[in-house]
Amino acid sequence: MIISGSASQTLAAELAAELDEPLASVEYERFPDGELLAAAPGFAAEEADAERAIVVASTVSSDAHVELLQLQDAAREWGASEVVTVLPYMGYARQDEAFEEGHPISARAVARAISSGTDRVLTVNPHEEAVCDFFDVPAEPIDAAGRLADPLPADLTDPVFLSPDEGALDIAATVRDAYGAGDTDYFEKKRLSGTEVELTPSDTDVSGRDVVVTDDIIATGSTMAEAVGILHERDARRVFLACVHPMLASNARSKLARAGVETIYGTDTIERDVSAVSVARSVADAL
Ligand code: R5P
Repeated sequence: MIISGSASQTLAAELAAELDEPLASVEYERFPDGELLAAAPGFAAEEADAERAIVVASTVSSDAHVELLQLQDAAREWGASEVVTVLPYMGYARQDEAFEEGHPISARAVARAISSGTDRVLTVNPHEEAVCDFFDVPAEPIDAAGRLADPLPADLTDPVFLSPDEGALDIAATVRDAYGAGDTDYFEKKRLSGTEVELTPSDTDVSGRDVVVTDDIIATGSTMAEAVGILHERDARRVFLACVHPMLASNARSKLARAGVETIYGTDTIERDVSAVSVARSVADAL
């Protein structure tokens, strides 16, 4: 039985179809005091013939975290003998260290909370795979980056698959391998603030070539906007953006549009209009 958080309903339905497992009825309510109630009415493991409950919930907000804890608890309360938690997008994963004295390791804090209601965790392309070590139950990353090759035009000209920092080079390589042709490259990145980055390009000549800029996430869009600006200055032919998690927070879309971005491809780990591909098959394979 698949139980969906409110931010992951499309992916949960896709996963249910992939696995040929039922999709639970879910309800999300907010009380006048602001508290949430996420529930799976009618879920009773015995009746549903579902020993295993798979809770699918991207923790894109604090509310989504609470919903997830509630749905895990409901599954256990109503008879699931195994609760598997799928985090298509794990919020707070980028806060994987204490950045200053007195800071928490937020990724660890949320991982511990999530662990309390589950037997196993799967998470798609976490910023660093080491975040899985923060869970108190077995936790595995799923690499779904290869799916990003699916919507790319088949006729890319002498393509370069570029990551805006060295840390995302493996994603660029995965997308290139799935596409089947092209070079990989990366820029050096220095983060100046939450919304400002400085990129230093490599020597690769991109003039007249199609460039696919790949990353794990587009959050504020600052990184991608900077990369696109550099690529246009260097006469790249077409520039496509591809990311696993299209968060596109705040004014990211305007920022990217102003930078001249035409096409963004993302997956449904975060459900947006640019979520061109589903990670359901990758998740199903890992379950
Ligand atoms: C950082 O290392 C990540 O891979 C992304 O490049 C970054 O989080 C994107 O953030 P933003 O869109 O805010 O620049």
